[in-house]
Amino acid sequence: NRKKNEKLEMYFKMHVDAARFFFRNLKDYKEIRDYFYKRGITDQTIRSFGLGFALNSWDSLLKYLKSMNYKEDDIVRCGLATKNEKGKVYDRFRNRIIFPVFDVRGRVIAFGARVMDDSKPKYLNSPETPIYNKGTHLYGLNFARKNSKEKSLIIVEGYMDCISLNQAGVKNVVASLGTALTKMQARLLKRNSEEVYISYDADNAGQAATVRGLDILSAEGIDVKVVQIPKGKDPDDYIRAEGVEKFHELLSHALPLIDYKILKAKDGLNIGEDQGRIHYAKRVVSILNNLDPIEKDVYVQKVSEDTGISESALMSLMKGDEEAVRIMDT
Ligand code: GTP
Ligand code: MN
Ligand code: MN
Ligand code: MN
Ligand code: MN
Repeated sequence: NRKKNEKLEMYFKMHVDAARFFFRNLKDYKEIRDYFYKRGITDQTIRSFGLGFALNSWDSLLKYLKSMNYKEDDIVRCGLATKNEKGKVYDRFRNRIIFPVFDVRGRVIAFGARVMDDSKPKYLNSPETPIYNKGTHLYGLNFARKNSKEKSLIIVEGYMDCISLNQAGVKNVVASLGTALTKMQARLLKRNSEEVYISYDADNAGQAATVRGLDILSAEGIDVKVVQIPKGKDPDDYIRAEGVEKFHELLSHALPLIDYKILKAKDGLNIGEDQGRIHYAKRVVSILNNLDPIEKDVYVQKVSEDTGISESALMSLMKGDEEAVRIMDT
């Protein structure tokens, strides 16, 4: 067991050494620094987040780590190098921008790496390793805990969203890194906040992830709100284009869970037509059915105002055959 701990400590140290290597590479490549500047990232931010560059080479990191007496097997075990079928070992990350991933204590445990053009895959990440289990971490939580006194946390999708918001002064941000939010991540959010704002990309993938994320978060008993970014943008795009004040405004208009679901219930329906309005009312009733009487009352009033359907009709629909509502709803 002590042997095992020593090994893990060595893996952490290897990651820091790799992160320093990637960071130092920036010094020699003005064009890479320019990539960051072009995206609005300052030197100060590069330093705080430990951003870096993996050289366009098959073995620069490998050689460097070996020169520091790390063993090839350990480097491969940490996913910093890959071994192919022929037994040849080479750097995993080549010619990419580097984002170190920190754990909650601020130790480097993995890397994300982005291409600088339109080639695929856009991001390449560390695999699961003895010190990195993706679904159990939230990118940026170490910074949020250190730099923010807010009771709420904003969850975003990407590295760039988290970094860009931090740079703009919004410090209570973490990123799920494009994965579907896990139960473990939901628990981490719950432990570290009283309220969670989901601020995923305003594209199809992001909106689908929002719906899934909402259910996972509310299942953990988290008070959750949905931030509505204008179509096609993500939080990074938005704050760079519109500024931090506007982003705070979006936060203040974030929709509580039920409001968001009611809004979503309009998708694909024309509320201007009777049939659309009827279908919408039935969808809404199936959403409101699980609420307590006071909440029901509040939302029935809202929906009634919105659709012109009487509150009493909505209420009696709610008391009616729930199964029938659910069937019509699909
Ligand atoms: P930029 O294009 O640099 O602004 O990144 P983004 O964060 O806006 O990327 P996007 O919205 O496409 O994806 C959100 C997050 O999902 C990224 O930050 C990554 O963590 C992850 N992701 C995106 N593309 C890939 C991919 O090709 N492979 C993997 N493994 N993860 C990805
Ligand atoms: Mn996206
Ligand atoms: Mn609340
Ligand atoms: Mn982006
Ligand atoms: Mn994005």
